[in-house]
Amino acid sequence: MQTEELQPNAGGIRRAAELLALGETVAFPTETVYGLGADATNDLAVAKVFEAKGRPSFNPLIVHVASRDAAEAIGLFPDAARDFLKNGWPEGLTLVVEKRPKSTISQLVTVGQTTVALRVPSAPLAKKLLNAFGGPVAAPSANPSGRISSTSAEHVLRGLQGKIAAVLVGGVAQTGLESTILSFDDTGPVVLREGAYQVAEDLPRQTAISGGVSAPAPGMLSSHYAPRGTLRMNVTAPDQREWFIGFGPVGACDANLSPSGNLQEAAANLFAFLYAADDKPAIAVAPIPDTGLGRAINDRLRRAAAPRP
Ligand code: TXA
Ligand code: MG
Repeated sequence: MQTEELQPNAGGIRRAAELLALGETVAFPTETVYGLGADATNDLAVAKVFEAKGRPSFNPLIVHVASRDAAEAIGLFPDAARDFLKNGWPEGLTLVVEKRPKSTISQLVTVGQTTVALRVPSAPLAKKLLNAFGGPVAAPSANPSGRISSTSAEHVLRGLQGKIAAVLVGGVAQTGLESTILSFDDTGPVVLREGAYQVAEDLPRQTAISGGVSAPAPGMLSSHYAPRGTLRMNVTAPDQREWFIGFGPVGACDANLSPSGNLQEAAANLFAFLYAADDKPAIAVAPIPDTGLGRAINDRLRRAAAPRP
């Protein structure tokens, strides 16, 4: 398959929407990372996403829609969920809610569960594509399963060239970390994944799961976002042979996520630096403060450092 590189103009968006309608896979930028999209109501199209990524079939996908109304047509939102949407759908937030029984979302998207993960992206190009297509788009991050997430079209092509129908080339994803995922139980919101949207530090967190069919959030696998080489985190004195990723005023390093210690800048650089270091046998990363976006960065680093299956 020849992967089409579509420009972020009217013609490119039209072609991307046409390919989605034909049941093909199209990667596109959101404000978090690039997603690999397919028509969420088309089993065959969704199967192509799992196939291209080599994704375990027990790991459900996030459904992207153009508006809150479109989201409410698919899921049942408890009041606690509505609270988050009072001023519109926040950037970088995914909500897991009960799926409406009559929803036409493919069972493959939800891997047969009764819940569905929904997100309204804010990135203009993602919005235009969703409006042009006119239906829900299932999209995991646009990378081979378990590997580094993509924040540019170039990253997408490195991992998925020839395996997907097209990529909408739309510059660098602004935040650079996946969405925060919340679900709701009787007590209120529970954080399933730390991410781009910053939630109160005292919200309950679902503890990390090592993976498996019965895991409540199967994607929370312990090894994920992995570069080819090994990765150590919280390193203050790297070994000679390690490629050292710094943060703040660390002195000598091979790349610095943010010399001034800005977590937003560090989040935006993280996956690009891991791609840059993907040919290195060993990577070491300086300590990142575990507050605000730093929690999401450390979550990604922990999984990137975890033993591989
Ligand atoms: O920012 C993002 O969230 C990006 C962009 C493309 O939207 N998407 C993304 O997708 O990161 P993915 O597949 O890499 O991660 C989605 C996570 C997985 O861990 C999956 O298990 C979880 O969402 N998920 C999806 N549906 C779920 C559900 N019904 N219940 C619990 N977890 C769910
Ligand atoms: Mg992913």
